[in-house]
Amino acid sequence: MATSRTECQALDAQDPLRSFREEFSLPPGIVYLLGNSLGALPRRTPERVARTVETEWGVHLGASWNTAGWWDLPQTTGDRLAPLIGAGPGQVLAGDSTSVCIFKAVAAALPLRPGRNVIISDLDNFPTDRYVVEGAAQALGAYEIRDIGSPDESLDEALGDDVALVLLSQVDYRTGAARDMAAVTARVHAAGALMIWDLCHSTGALNVDVGDADFALGCTYKYLNGGPGAPAYIYVAPRHQEAARNVLSGWHGHAAPFAFESHYRPADGVRRFASGSPPVLSYAALNASLDIWEGVDMSEVRAKSQALTSLFIELLDELHPGLTLATPRDPGRRGSQVSYRHPDGYPVIRALADRGVVGDFREPDFIRFGFAPLYLRYVDVHDAATALAEVLAKELWRDEKYARRLTVT
Ligand SMILES: Cc1ncc(COP(=O)(O)O)c(C=O)c1O
Repeated sequence: MATSRTECQALDAQDPLRSFREEFSLPPGIVYLLGNSLGALPRRTPERVARTVETEWGVHLGASWNTAGWWDLPQTTGDRLAPLIGAGPGQVLAGDSTSVCIFKAVAAALPLRPGRNVIISDLDNFPTDRYVVEGAAQALGAYEIRDIGSPDESLDEALGDDVALVLLSQVDYRTGAARDMAAVTARVHAAGALMIWDLCHSTGALNVDVGDADFALGCTYKYLNGGPGAPAYIYVAPRHQEAARNVLSGWHGHAAPFAFESHYRPADGVRRFASGSPPVLSYAALNASLDIWEGVDMSEVRAKSQALTSLFIELLDELHPGLTLATPRDPGRRGSQVSYRHPDGYPVIRALADRGVVGDFREPDFIRFGFAPLYLRYVDVHDAATALAEVLAKELWRDEKYARRLTVT
């Protein structure tokens, strides 16, 4: 017998993370299962952004580069992100988009493995990763891309002594399947190559440990609730910080930016990965959210994430048997997302949204549901599974108004 709504209420009453829901401004009447795409708005964010606009900018103007710490935001924010990926101070820099950070990491890693000209990529990765690798391979010299598919059985075959680096996501954006980072990193290192991890779907959802990885990067607008277009981050392992070069060698990564020297000299440490002026207002929003994350125990987040995703799968197994699950059933092998495959996935998601349950659709036929443990309750999961089962059983998605594609799916 699947868990009842009353039992879900009891689970919510015992949830050690239950007080965090109050930190978020959630519109009434919806179950938001899209925190794996754009996290919810923290209640403290508007005030923090307003303060940055009205006081730091409006009153103190350019002095705020010093007095409000604007100049140092990429490093200070990076240091706050570091514990969320198992990194230490001085190892993470916040800024740019994930796509730009991928380019910087790939371009920094390739010269660290001279004589090797192959980049291993994964065709199931989020497309921007592959697109950026294509651009980098063309721009940076005679590099070849070798594609593997998920899961990684073909990784060992692909890992020859010509491989310079491997770029993979820990969590698959469509299926939610999670890789064992330590094991994959060890396989890659055994072949003499460098490992770059994309942690977009991991940060704030899993108890991430960059471990021996060489570089890592990720976004902060999903589970970390940094806001639309929030700064991304790049991690550079301490052992590479001396030798790694930032190809986008702008003045914010210069050793002495206010000496205005004619030629580039890299700053020490991870700071050299900065390029141009930081979007200060976006950092304000991200830092408001990171105030919340400071009080969060990631083991509790991971445990609740596994419980919520398991509950959703169990409920749907019972309420709508036969639905094709795309996510691993083993909670240890998935991130904080559950996906199903359905030939009419897009209208299903639209019909569900009309019933107050927000998920999304990814080509060719994935319907995705993200479970953000800080603000989702067990009752929300119950209500969402019930609504999805109803949309499917009554074929409510057949209404033709749900067929028309919006720009963002
Ligand atoms: C794995 C992964 N990498 C990168 C991105 C997006 O990159 P950017 O932050 O540059 O838009 C996403 C977006 O969902 C993603 O899932």
